[in-house]
Amino acid sequence: MDYLKAIDERISRRTYLDTPVEPNKIKTLNDSINKYNQEAELAMELIPDGSKAFNGLRKSYGMFKNVRTIIVLKGKKEDADLKEKLGQYGELLVLEATGMGLGTCWVAGTFDRNNGVLNVGDKEELVCVITVGNIAAEQTFKEKLVRGMTHRKTKAAEELYKSDVPAPQWLLTGIHAVQKAPSAVNLQPVKFEFRNGILTANVEEERYLTDLGIAKVHFTLAAGGNFELGNHGEYHN
Ligand SMILES: Cc1cc2nc3c(=O)[nH]c(=O)nc-3n(C[C@H](O)[C@H](O)[C@H](O)COP(=O)(O)O)c2cc1C
Repeated sequence: MDYLKAIDERISRRTYLDTPVEPNKIKTLNDSINKYNQEAELAMELIPDGSKAFNGLRKSYGMFKNVRTIIVLKGKKEDADLKEKLGQYGELLVLEATGMGLGTCWVAGTFDRNNGVLNVGDKEELVCVITVGNIAAEQTFKEKLVRGMTHRKTKAAEELYKSDVPAPQWLLTGIHAVQKAPSAVNLQPVKFEFRNGILTANVEEERYLTDLGIAKVHFTLAAGGNFELGNHGEYHN
């Protein structure tokens, strides 16, 4: 799996073809989901036909077409790192789907828990869903319009990090991959700070912790190494 190629190619796609995702692609995604759930104690679940669940999604309804397959990102309510971990593992799934030629979009918002499709336990929290589907090579006019509304410009690299020395190349490599990461309402809220030889990543508000997980995984896929979990978590290479 060429994650860097997927980072370069990925954009949010909200209009899908009216055909189901092929079974072998569903299986590949399910294999990853099972592996990540075990590794990180999550409860992510792929629903091959989640269109009914999507009708209960108030905020984003209307911007999407032919939603069928969804990945429900959920886990234990008591897990302090839940949002960040779902950001990290959800984005790996997004990139893997991108690598298989599928379109994806992260969706936060209000869910109807009683629609009989979403299966969220009492002790679980549903954080986001990811829509996955077959896409046309070219975006439709409507998709371009929606993208124009939701996608303000990409922040310059210098807006995403602070450094007390001239930024080393590995830091810039990581930041360039972060520039291509999806974020809720394209806020790009994650800041990287390199001081006294230590790199940390942070967000100002808790509600951006999913974006933190996404940004960290883009960084490490490009620059190597890994980040400790948590807001202001340290990077080790
Ligand atoms: C956590 C999260 C939540 C999002 N929620 C929505 C949503 O509810 N509706 C929507 O249309 N797009 C949503 N998006 C997609 C963003 O609008 C999109 O990632 C951003 O505009 C950047 O565009 P790009 O993904 O095409 O690079 C979400 C993205 C993230 C990371």
